[in-house]
Amino acid sequence: MDSVDDRWYKDAVLYELSVRTFADGNGDGIGDFRGLTQRLDYLEGLGVTAIWLLPFQPSPWRDDGYDVTDHYGVHPDFGDIGDFVRFVEHARDRGLRVIIDLVLNHTSREHRWFQAARRGDPRFHDYYVWADTKPPDAERGVVFPGVQKTTWTYDRAARRYYFHRFYDFQPDLNIASPAVRDEMEKIIGFWLNLGISGFRVDAVPFLVEPTSATNTSPGPNLDWLGTFRSYLSWRSGDAVLLGEANVPREQIPDYFGRGGLHMMFDFEVNQRLWLALARQEAAPLVEALRDTSGIPGADQWAMFLRNNDELDLGRLSDDERRTVFRRFAPSKRMQLYDRGIRRRLAPMLGGDRALQELAFALLLALPGTPVLFYGDEIGMGDDLALPERLAVRTPMQWSEAPNAGFSAAPRSQLAQPVISRGAFAYRDVNVAAEQREDDALLLFVQRAIRTRRRLRELKGTWEPLRVREPSVLALRYELDASPLVTLHNLGSTAVHVHGVRAQGLVDVFANRAYQPPRRAVELDAYGFRWLRDPAAA
Ligand code: GLC
Ligand code: CA
Repeated sequence: MDSVDDRWYKDAVLYELSVRTFADGNGDGIGDFRGLTQRLDYLEGLGVTAIWLLPFQPSPWRDDGYDVTDHYGVHPDFGDIGDFVRFVEHARDRGLRVIIDLVLNHTSREHRWFQAARRGDPRFHDYYVWADTKPPDAERGVVFPGVQKTTWTYDRAARRYYFHRFYDFQPDLNIASPAVRDEMEKIIGFWLNLGISGFRVDAVPFLVEPTSATNTSPGPNLDWLGTFRSYLSWRSGDAVLLGEANVPREQIPDYFGRGGLHMMFDFEVNQRLWLALARQEAAPLVEALRDTSGIPGADQWAMFLRNNDELDLGRLSDDERRTVFRRFAPSKRMQLYDRGIRRRLAPMLGGDRALQELAFALLLALPGTPVLFYGDEIGMGDDLALPERLAVRTPMQWSEAPNAGFSAAPRSQLAQPVISRGAFAYRDVNVAAEQREDDALLLFVQRAIRTRRRLRELKGTWEPLRVREPSVLALRYELDASPLVTLHNLGSTAVHVHGVRAQGLVDVFANRAYQPPRRAVELDAYGFRWLRDPAAA
């Protein structure tokens, strides 16, 4: 028997959501832990195994909670710490793990540390990164071009400039300060004690970037991240760090290695996947998969189609990016920061059902842990009238009731407007309706997730297969000599796939019922088939 890695995150299915826009339990127009806890049945039914919560701590909420003012609390709009713990307990009762966003690169400008620092309290000054004069490169390296002007802003109380990789209301913490690292460790310990299974670590490359002239390489800072890993594992043996680090391929081994991340989002595969879909050609995706393979045994990629941010295409060439824009975000208002797309999955795919099914099947067949973004499983749309990335963060559409069943509050009080017009309006796109219809997207996604979870072969070895048809992605997994072959046709014409040796295998999941594979394997336009050894079933 091949030894199978049974670390929980290796065969998890993650679901990313914001408490604020998921479900309002007390009718004030804002999602909260009570509402979310009531919706755990839905998540359990969907088949996901872990929930990733976007920031929910106290915050002036200028960057959707990524501007934290107190790392030890719950924003009063969402409930209190007791509601959080109850939510985690109820999730665990259903076998669902919880991981939370960990925002350590910066705080809100209103955080008491920053307020003390700017007023000259010597205990806090070094918590942040300061300069007496504006550094000459202040206009370079902004993360939100077009919206953010600079990375150094003058503070009148401190009479110095402070560094902020993101918006000016998010001063960067100085990880080189031992006191700051001690605070960070305390924060990690605090949440672990409340029963969570780990963290999605925000903005890792910026967290570890050099912060002063004497500290010029990210190496030592990565080591500090590594010490957080040891601390975390000591406190809670199976907790994980899932890093948000969109870094070049060469740096990956260091982030897993010295940095100690258990998982990293695969931004390379994500961008190449969209390029592959745009070109109807598997090659870019195959290359990216080959490139990101071969990470050490305990490490794991997290795969995704979309998330709460813009779809960042910054690693593609200008030409490649233009191709993706042309196909999936043709108008300027769908694009953001000169590099990305601020649309949700369903509208990007033109609401096309076959394409959406293909996209989900693909995500769930990739070698890595899939991460779904709330609402995509029912085909929710976006609201381009909202600024920047808020376009993809509208409330979950539960039913055809007012406010999509998200909240009983008057419409004007909602945390975010619900989508009530156009092809993706909540009257047509909602959970309740899709639970009634036998052929709804939601049921398809449910079935796909559940099928994936019982395919042990996905824990085995894998390799891309060479096939003659350029539009087809063919992956072959194997465990205990038992193969699983997954075929996905990214093209808009039907094909017969040659060279996959699938004779004798049977369909376990496909876009429709096919004839058993022969020398060539039939695939519809945007069709897919997962084929398995009948003895393995
Ligand atoms: C990450 C988050 C993004 C946030 C930024 C600053 O990139 O995904 O939403 O704005 O960090 O915290
Ligand atoms: Ca509420």
